[in-house]
Amino acid sequence: MAAIAERTREDQVDLRRRPRRLRQSPELRSMLRETWLRPDDLIYPLFVRHGKGLRAEIRSMPGVDQWSVDRLEAEIESIAGLGIPAVVLFGLPETKDAIGRENFDPQGIVQQAIREIKRAVPEMLVVTDVCLCEYTDHGHCGLLNQDGRRPHLPEGYVLNDETLEVLARVAVSHAEAGADIVAPSGMIDGAVGAMRVALDQADFDHVAILAYAVKYASAFYGPFRDAAESPPRFGDRKSHQMDPANAREALLEARLDVEQGADMLMVKPALPYLDVLHRVRSAYPELPLAAYNVSGEYAMIKAATAQGWLDERATVLELLTGIKRAGADLILTYHAKDAAAWLRETD
Ligand code: PBG
Repeated sequence: MAAIAERTREDQVDLRRRPRRLRQSPELRSMLRETWLRPDDLIYPLFVRHGKGLRAEIRSMPGVDQWSVDRLEAEIESIAGLGIPAVVLFGLPETKDAIGRENFDPQGIVQQAIREIKRAVPEMLVVTDVCLCEYTDHGHCGLLNQDGRRPHLPEGYVLNDETLEVLARVAVSHAEAGADIVAPSGMIDGAVGAMRVALDQADFDHVAILAYAVKYASAFYGPFRDAAESPPRFGDRKSHQMDPANAREALLEARLDVEQGADMLMVKPALPYLDVLHRVRSAYPELPLAAYNVSGEYAMIKAATAQGWLDERATVLELLTGIKRAGADLILTYHAKDAAAWLRETD
């Protein structure tokens, strides 16, 4: 063996620099760790629905449930107890219609949930997803071109500026109910600007906007569409969500949202788009950046760990750390509760 090492040195392999020196012990590794994941980096998604006493399992997302408002208190207390500072709400309305009226109804499911969360744990930060797809009978993220309203656009095309009016009303309605942060997720052009103007006019200039600035048309949203009962009735979302092949375009989307007043940016999904996350982080070092570790990414891990093919704890902590390392300050993830509990144990 020694002879081989000798030959190796003679071959000009420099063995004076030995990175392994700094990996010898847990203490050294901990002292030199570049990226730390903490419970307060995490935002936990919650699905809320009408009814009483409900905690309904979501088949494609084991461990994630739909909640009725009367059961939220204990759940919010446990989330807060784990040190998770924020939840993001998704609502399943009682009735769906062409424009998604329940979305801006003061008695809407999300509005009720916000009030209940703020009553139960006032310091819990509430982020709301602002989009039409869960509320419209056609399942699309905006108002549709129907009955030749815009004759030069295809029937069923998601109308942009008409949708802005609704998104602005939804944002104000969520703010009235007590939301801290509103998050437009529909990839409708001008949504951040429209929501900012409407919030400011309604005296909610303190409510922040987390822009789903860079959101791809991803197959990884599949399980969410079960959870939120929001698949499009026909067609897809490619006329507004981004092509997974495009990264430069992500910088344009981010820039437009920054110009319109976004307080924070988001890239979604996370794992297949870490390069994009890194680019957005470099382009906007001054803004907080979030990544959405989406339902399909969660479901993959759950499926593999249920088979015993992957170790859940190690895999989840590694992937969340990777998302932070790539540039995220915040991670929206269905793993949040488990991860926060594991992080507390290792403290
Ligand atoms: C739109 C919305 C979606 C998700 C978050 N907000 C679905 C979509 O765009 O089709 C997906 C989140 C996930 O997959 O976890 N309201």
